[in-house]
Amino acid sequence: MPPATSPDHEPSTPGGGSPRVSLVEITPDIDDAVRALRVAPGQEHFVSSVAHSFVEAVQAPEGKPWPRAVLLDDEPVGFLMMSWDVEPAPGLHGPYFLWKLLVDERRQRQGIARAALAIVCQEVLDDGGRELLTSCVPGEGSPQPFYEGLGFVPTGEVDEGEVVLRLDLSRFGTGATPTP
Ligand SMILES: CC(C)(COP(=O)(O)OP(=O)(O)OC[C@H]1O[C@@H](n2cnc3c(N)ncnc32)[C@H](O)[C@@H]1OP(=O)(O)O)[C@@H](O)C(=O)NCCC(=O)NCCS
Repeated sequence: MPPATSPDHEPSTPGGGSPRVSLVEITPDIDDAVRALRVAPGQEHFVSSVAHSFVEAVQAPEGKPWPRAVLLDDEPVGFLMMSWDVEPAPGLHGPYFLWKLLVDERRQRQGIARAALAIVCQEVLDDGGRELLTSCVPGEGSPQPFYEGLGFVPTGEVDEGEVVLRLDLSRFGTGATPTP
C-alpha cells in the first residue's frame, strides 16, 4: 500500500499541479468536513455522496477501498476512493481503479482534481502500477471530457452503463513526473 498521506503532509507537486493540494487519510478530525462535501446541482448522478461511498467501501471489501481526502492547504475540498492493488475479476476492475472522485462545487475548475490525480498517478507508479482505470456515466455534464482531457482513453468496455477509461502511466517511465 502507498503511504497514508503524501510524505510528511507536505503538499505534493507532481505534474506541476497546485503545490497546495495533498491527499490524506480521513481521520476523525476531518471526517465531518469530508462528509459535508457537495457536488453541484445536476452532478449528483455522476458520483455517490461521501457517506454512501463509505458504505460501499464496507460492503465491498474485495474492492480494497483506499479512501482519501483531498486537501487544499488544510481544508478538505474533495474526496477520492481507489481500488488499490486488486486482482481483476468479473465486476472488479484493477489493479488500480479510481472508484470515486469529487471536488466540492465551490472548488471546482481550480485544478484540484488534476493535482489530486497527479498524486494518485505517482503513488500507483511507486507501487509498480502502469495504468490507472476509472469509469464514468456518459452524457450531458458527464466528467468524461475531464478524464479524456487528462489523457484517459475509453477501453471500449461499458460496465453497468459506465464508460471504462484507462490512463497509460508507462509513458511516464521510471522517475518521471506524471502530468495527467
Ligand atoms: C469532475 C471533477 C472531479 C473535476 O474536478 P475539478 O477540480 O473541477 O477539475 P480540474 O479543475 O482539475 O480540471 C482539470 C481540467 O479538466 C477540465 N474540466 C473539469 N471539469 C470538466 C468537465 N466536467 N468537462 C470538461 N472539462 C472539465 C478543466 O477545465 C481543466 O482543464 P484545463 O486544465 O484545460 O483548464 C468535478 O467536476 C466533480 O466533482 N464533478 C462531480 C462528480 C463527478 O462527476 N466525479 C467523477 C465521477 S466518475
